Amino acid sequence: MERKEKLKIGVIGFGRMGQLYGKELLKNPLWEVVYICDTGVAARKAATEIAPGAIVIDNEDEIFADPAIDVVGLFALADSRPAQLYKALKAGKHVLAEKPVADDIKTEWEIADAVEKSGRMVAVNMFNRNAWYHKMMIDFIRSGEIGELAIIRIAHMTPGHMPQEGHGPEGPCFHDCGMHYVDVARWYAGSDYDTYHAQGVRMWSYTDPWWVQAHGTFRNGVVFDITQGFVYGHMAQVQTHNCYVDVIGTKGIARLKYDFKTATVDLHGVHDTVTKTDDFNDKKIDILVDVFAKSVLAGKNLGYPTVKDSVIASDMAWKMFDDAVANGAPCIGKPEEMDEILARRRAMKQGYGLPLWQIIDEYAAK
Ligand SMILES: NC(=O)c1ccc[n+]([C@@H]2O[C@H](COP(=O)([O-])OP(=O)(O)OC[C@H]3O[C@@H](n4cnc5c(N)ncnc54)[C@H](O)[C@@H]3O)[C@@H](O)[C@H]2O)c1
Repeated sequence: MERKEKLKIGVIGFGRMGQLYGKELLKNPLWEVVYICDTGVAARKAATEIAPGAIVIDNEDEIFADPAIDVVGLFALADSRPAQLYKALKAGKHVLAEKPVADDIKTEWEIADAVEKSGRMVAVNMFNRNAWYHKMMIDFIRSGEIGELAIIRIAHMTPGHMPQEGHGPEGPCFHDCGMHYVDVARWYAGSDYDTYHAQGVRMWSYTDPWWVQAHGTFRNGVVFDITQGFVYGHMAQVQTHNCYVDVIGTKGIARLKYDFKTATVDLHGVHDTVTKTDDFNDKKIDILVDVFAKSVLAGKNLGYPTVKDSVIASDMAWKMFDDAVANGAPCIGKPEEMDEILARRRAMKQGYGLPLWQIIDEYAAK
């Protein structure tokens, strides 16, 4: 059989993430973007501009029915993902999916099971797993330079995605974004979660806690704390953030901070002291599409993040979030403050996690 050199992809969902994928897929010679499907007019218009060579459609079934399509990209929202994923597997396609793979955890586990039985390749964009800075930290920790791994501390706090800015099916920010850091802690620990306790705050008196801190243990005895909140100075004159990973061993430490432009790894081991600053590279979609294409062409996973890791992270993030609610997250602030923040963000051209407003408006009008 002739060996393929290029993969044909049909993309479903062309909002903020879909457009990032679109641009990276078009740049990579291993991909040919054949279809772009979106139910929204604004996104389809963007598709014709960004990918003039693609067939732009509003009916996803054309993609599943086309035998020439090798891979389906699932970049819409979590509520439409399960049906699309099952259709893709039934049609024998490989899948490149956004997280979470579904909007409820039972369905996510069923999907993990179906993927395992399908023999198809399915990658999920747990983007930290493609980050040079985490790989460098983990290599150092695993080399024994910090002694025995004991404590993992992670914070991801920005003036980011607000309630009412879309992503309803993905849940509150500790799930939508926080699942990434629940995954990172488990990856660093090299073990599964054992115990946890969480505290949240209902900032601006919003229904859901928009800041949550969880701490606990892994089965191997490593302890963790994870702090995630999109509550970090939204109305500050000059916005900033506080994002770090701080790992403590019995003998040394490994730490990381990033400002979304660059990341700095700072390693203090028993023999080596290393500091490196390099590009943060946003969501690392260039790396994901490249490693996934090479994996499909080679017939084996060459390093893409798996459905199982994403489902474990999603499951644990929901559990920790539910614990924060059960522990009585207090209300601080007023809904009018949230309105002020939303108004400011709508006027911003650059900012942390800004949505594509024309897509949010179109959604709200439906
Ligand atoms: N991995 C990450 O770091 C990361 C970051 C941001 C978002 N995400 C995930 O990516 C997904 C998309 O997020 P986004 O920010 O691009 O959202 P978005 O609202 O900007 O875009 C979603 C798009 O999907 C389209 N859509 C909705 N239902 C559809 C359907 N049934 N068929 C076709 N198109 C449909 C909408 O019209 C919209 O254009 C979400 O699930 C989110 O959790 C992941």
